[in-house]
Amino acid sequence: MSNLIDLTINEEQLKKTVQSVKERDILIPTMAQMKDPDKIPAKVKEKLKKTGLWDVDPINLFRISWKNEPVKEGGLFNKLPNYVEIPTEISGVKARIIAMAGKYFPTGAHKVGASFACLVPRLVTGQFDPKYHEAVWPSTGNYCRGGAYNSALLGCKSIAILPENMSKERFDWLKTVAGEVIATPGCESNVKEIYDKTWELRRTRDNVVIFNQFGELGNHLWHYEVTGNAMDEIIKAEAGSKGRLAGVCLTSGSAGTLGSGDYLKDQYPHAKLAVGEALQCPTLLNNGFGDHRIEGIGDKHIPWIHNIKNTDMVIAIDDNDSLGMFRLFNEPAGQSYLREQGVSEEVISKLSWVGISGAANILSCIKFAKYFELTEDDIVITVLTDSAEMYQSRLQEMEAERGKGYSSLNAAIDHNRNVLGVRTDSMEELTYQSKKRIHNLKYYTWIEQQEYDLDELNAQWYDYDNYWGKLHQMGPELDKLIEQFNEKTGIAK
Ligand SMILES: Cc1ncc(COP(=O)(O)O)c(C=O)c1O
Repeated sequence: MSNLIDLTINEEQLKKTVQSVKERDILIPTMAQMKDPDKIPAKVKEKLKKTGLWDVDPINLFRISWKNEPVKEGGLFNKLPNYVEIPTEISGVKARIIAMAGKYFPTGAHKVGASFACLVPRLVTGQFDPKYHEAVWPSTGNYCRGGAYNSALLGCKSIAILPENMSKERFDWLKTVAGEVIATPGCESNVKEIYDKTWELRRTRDNVVIFNQFGELGNHLWHYEVTGNAMDEIIKAEAGSKGRLAGVCLTSGSAGTLGSGDYLKDQYPHAKLAVGEALQCPTLLNNGFGDHRIEGIGDKHIPWIHNIKNTDMVIAIDDNDSLGMFRLFNEPAGQSYLREQGVSEEVISKLSWVGISGAANILSCIKFAKYFELTEDDIVITVLTDSAEMYQSRLQEMEAERGKGYSSLNAAIDHNRNVLGVRTDSMEELTYQSKKRIHNLKYYTWIEQQEYDLDELNAQWYDYDNYWGKLHQMGPELDKLIEQFNEKTGIAK
C-alpha cells in the first residue's frame, strides 16, 4: 500500500530548507493550533494584531483557521468558528441548517487549509527545496489562490493553473501573488485540460512539484482534522438537550471538504454524509458530464481522495437554483424581501458570506432535509467555501443579461422557485452497489490517465480500515514534524 501522505525525511535537503525558512523568519502552525487558537503563542498574536487578514505575511499562516475574528485588520480569534443558521423563513424546512463560513480565511476561502496541508508535509520533510522547486497549483480557482498565497508566505515559488473562464476577480488577485499564472481552455468543469497542462510542465521543466488537490490526501486530512473539529464545536454549542446531527451536506470539487464528513461520522455514527454536484454535470449521479456555473465544484471525474464508501447520498443541484439563491441573498431588493418574510437582521448581515457554491451547499441541505423528513431537532451542517465578495462581477453580468435591475418581485420569484421550490428529485441514497459504481469511475481518471497505483485504488475499497483509518490518524504525526521543524529553525523560541 502507499505511504498515504509521504513523510519520508530527506535529511540533507531538510538542513537547507530549515536554513532558508529561518532566514525568512517563518514559524509554521500545527493543525492542533489551527483547531485551538489558545495554543498559539502570545508573541504571534501580538503580531496578528498589527496584520491585515489578507496580508502576504508569514504570520498569516496562523490565520488558517475557521475561528478568525470577522474583521479585515488586526483580528484575533473567536471562541467558535464563523457560522450562520439558515432560518425556516428562508429554507422552508424545519431542520436547522448551519453553514460555517470560509470568508474570513486569508484569500477569502478555506482552500488555504487544503493547500497548506499539501505543501507543508513536503517542506518539513525536506522533500521540497524552496530555492529550487516551484510549487504548481492546478485548480479551477480558490485552491490555486490558496496555494499561491501559502507559497508566498512560506518563501516558495509558485505556478497557478486555472481555466480561462473563471471569474475576473480570481485572475486579478492571482497575478499579484503567484510567480506565474497559466490559463487553460474552458470553464469550471474542464479539469482534464488542467491535468494536461501539468503533464506538459512535468515533461518540460525539471523543477516543478505538482500539488494535485484531487489526489493529495493532505487535503482530505486537513478537513478531517480542522474542518471536522470546527463543525463539531458548533454542533456541541448549538444542539442543546434535544438536537442531533442528522447529516453533513457538501458539494464536491476536490472532495477535500468531504473529509470533515468522515470526522463527523466517526463522532456521530448515525449521521449521514451527502455529496452535492451540479445537475448540469451529474458525474456522481449518472456518470454524466457537462458545463455548469457553480464555480469550484464538479469536474467530470471522481477525486482520488473522495472516500466513496463512507458517502451515503448524492444530491444534484440545478445551477439556476444556486445562482437564484445567490442573487436573492446578495441584492439589496432580495435582502429587503427576506426582511419582510421575517428574517432577522443578524442573518441578513451574514448573507453575503454565501458564494455560489455556498448556495448549492445550502440547497443540498434543504433537499436532504426534505428527503429524510427532518424535524426542528435535526441539525444539518455545511460550509460556505468562499463568499459573495468573489462574485461581484457575476452579479453585474446577471443584471446586464436581464437588462434591468433586481426588484422585490424578482426576489419573490427566486425565493419561491429556486429555494422553496426545490424537491427531492435528482438525488440518490447510495447502496453498496451504487457506491461501488462511483468508486469504479476513479479507475479511468487515476489509473488510466494519471498513472496512479491500481493496488492503492483497491485498498481504498477492500482494505478500507487500514487505508482511511490510517490516514485519519496521521494528523498528530504531521504536527510532530512541524514542531520539530520549528525547533530546528529556532523561530519557535
Ligand atoms: C468556491 C468553491 N466551492 C466549493 C469547492 C469544493 O471544495 P473541495 O475542493 O474541498 O471539494 C471549492 C474548491 O476549490 C471552491 O473553490
